[in-house]
Amino acid sequence: MSHQQISFSWLRQVVSRNWHVAMLLSCLGFFLIIAGSVTAKEVAVKSPDGQIVLKVGVERGVPHYTVAYDGKIVVMQSRLGVRFKLAAPLDEGMRVGKVTRASLDRRWEQPWGERLKMREHYNEMLVPFIEVASKGGVSNGFAVRFRVFNDGVGFRYEIPPQDSRTHLEIVDELTEFAMDPASTAWWIPARGWNRYEYLYKTTPLAEVGRANTPITLKTPDGIHLSLHEAALVDYAGMSLDQKRPGLLKADLAPWSDGVLVKAKAPFHSPWRTIQIAPDAVGLINSNLILNLNEPNKLGDVSWVEKGKYVGIWWGMHIKTYTWGSGPKHGATTKNAKYYMDFAAKNGFSGVLIEGWNMGWDGDWFNNGSLFSFTQSYPDFDLREVTDYGRAHGVRLIGHHETSGDVSNYEAQMEDAFALYEKRGVRIVKTGYVADGGGIQRVDENGIRRYEWHDGQFTVNHHLRVVKAAARHHISINAHEPVKDTGLRRTYPNWISREGARGQEYNAWGVPPNSPEHTAILPFTRMLAGPMDFTPGIFDMDFGHGLDAPTRVQTTLAKQLALYVVIYSPIQMAADLPENYEKRPEAFQFIKDVPTDWEDSIALAGEVGDYVAIARKARNGDDWFIGALTDEQARTVVLPMNFLDAKIRYVAQIYRDGPKADWKTNPYAMVIEEIPLVKGRPLRLWLAPGGGAAIRMHAVNSK
Ligand code: NOJ
Ligand code: CA
Repeated sequence: MSHQQISFSWLRQVVSRNWHVAMLLSCLGFFLIIAGSVTAKEVAVKSPDGQIVLKVGVERGVPHYTVAYDGKIVVMQSRLGVRFKLAAPLDEGMRVGKVTRASLDRRWEQPWGERLKMREHYNEMLVPFIEVASKGGVSNGFAVRFRVFNDGVGFRYEIPPQDSRTHLEIVDELTEFAMDPASTAWWIPARGWNRYEYLYKTTPLAEVGRANTPITLKTPDGIHLSLHEAALVDYAGMSLDQKRPGLLKADLAPWSDGVLVKAKAPFHSPWRTIQIAPDAVGLINSNLILNLNEPNKLGDVSWVEKGKYVGIWWGMHIKTYTWGSGPKHGATTKNAKYYMDFAAKNGFSGVLIEGWNMGWDGDWFNNGSLFSFTQSYPDFDLREVTDYGRAHGVRLIGHHETSGDVSNYEAQMEDAFALYEKRGVRIVKTGYVADGGGIQRVDENGIRRYEWHDGQFTVNHHLRVVKAAARHHISINAHEPVKDTGLRRTYPNWISREGARGQEYNAWGVPPNSPEHTAILPFTRMLAGPMDFTPGIFDMDFGHGLDAPTRVQTTLAKQLALYVVIYSPIQMAADLPENYEKRPEAFQFIKDVPTDWEDSIALAGEVGDYVAIARKARNGDDWFIGALTDEQARTVVLPMNFLDAKIRYVAQIYRDGPKADWKTNPYAMVIEEIPLVKGRPLRLWLAPGGGAAIRMHAVNSK
């Protein structure tokens, strides 16, 4: 045991002993005397079920909070505060003002989602922090609003209206999360050139550097936590920087001029979130992030289209086609019709077509300013393609790759959405490939500025796009996006996004996605919201041989499992039509699986090892299960208690064959039908890098 670990456990014991005394005293209305004999007033709020206790106080004038779960401290005393340019800091010389409390227990429904019925149930405490003696900070101090749910905690800073100095610039946010450094962490680095597209690392928390959120932690006691943020609006995205072992500090992505956030008082920060669960699947079953977002602001959103799509897409990634013009140009009218026929024949509602518009020739990664969002290449006739789609009951899914040149895009955005709306397009995939320079804008003086993909400028850009698209009844699926913070509740046309390594890495990634990647995503990235992962590759090596270093590292059954495991209301069947035509039995599952769910239950799993998720279709009684494993074969035993006792089910099981292995034998798959009833557990063997996909068909629907 290291010195740090010893002193940590000592600290934990002292704090937890004081904690119980403190709880008793604060119940009796006493003040807690902290070691060092500084008087600090502490106020507390509990989750509705009493499991989570959050305490807030001031020690030597410095605001802080602490979180306990099930009697154990999970976030030790951690600082709160923000610092402004041209105003004295608001993190010292403070006292707690008059606290106000509230509770809410309301039901709401998702227009689309993992589950239909939601419950938003929390106890709230608004804590004002007031300057003991005015130092010329922002007027009236600041407040922190805490909401404690049964599945975690959210808090945000609220800056009151100002007498003068309405425009404020944040130069530091002091929020800390003091976690047990002996926890295991699953994380990706922040502020890297590749945005969120990294393989996850599994390390002791003490080895984390600067990490993106959501970051997932498992304490030595087995408690699972995820740190993230909710409702990121008009503010900089937060990553976490480890200052001392276990001490993660908010680290906001700066503007190109160094300021973190430019705001006009009154304003508030996004919610800083701590999801807490007794086990790994508890994190997946939590609704905390959505519950901390505001209700739908768009009104009737019946125009938001969900569903499955195919596309002229994988062909470019494996170099069968090109985005740019030439003999291998993928986006031709002829090819578009071929894909539309295939979609119509197999019941898909959309066809994504990339490379249809001018600007892809040459180095498109670095020439975003050359993109037109309305001019097609001469061999692609937008009108003819969309008319053809209409006649066959299929819609074009539009594509706007910006290569990060946001000024070029925003100048054309309105015309581009109007054109697509006229042509019956309901979903547009956007893209911000900007591997070298970052997001670009041309400022008021005509100077090109480079911004972070999760800085305040880009955060605001994404919402401008989503709102403009909504005016044209278009939904947005952003690639290379800002991370998801649950804004789909407020803007239900923000239908999906990338924001992690997706399937494309299996076409050209060095290394490609490892077998454990998709066993980590459900417990990390997916806690933020839907992902357009683009599953369903049936040809694992695209002619390069199974020994090729870059290939799909899964079995066929695992590709099917991804449709249930990785949630998105739009799901792509990503492979070439000819590869589906070669395997019609396996393809049947993709045709049958819905993308919109009445309910979802993560049944079993451990972060990075395996996961099994059950989902119930909306408008029907069928249930589906997706189960997948990392590189280890394993047998999972799933409780079937969620089924309806009055219904008889026939399970259509697509599972790894007895000798299946992602490396050598990925296509071995057994398809079988067995009767299922509520309560009888289901045993599934998963091959190395394998999985299983199940449709539990209700034979006697209610
Ligand atoms: C990256 C996206 O993730 C991918 O789906 C797309 O095909 C390319 N950019 C081109 O826009
Ligand atoms: Ca990407």
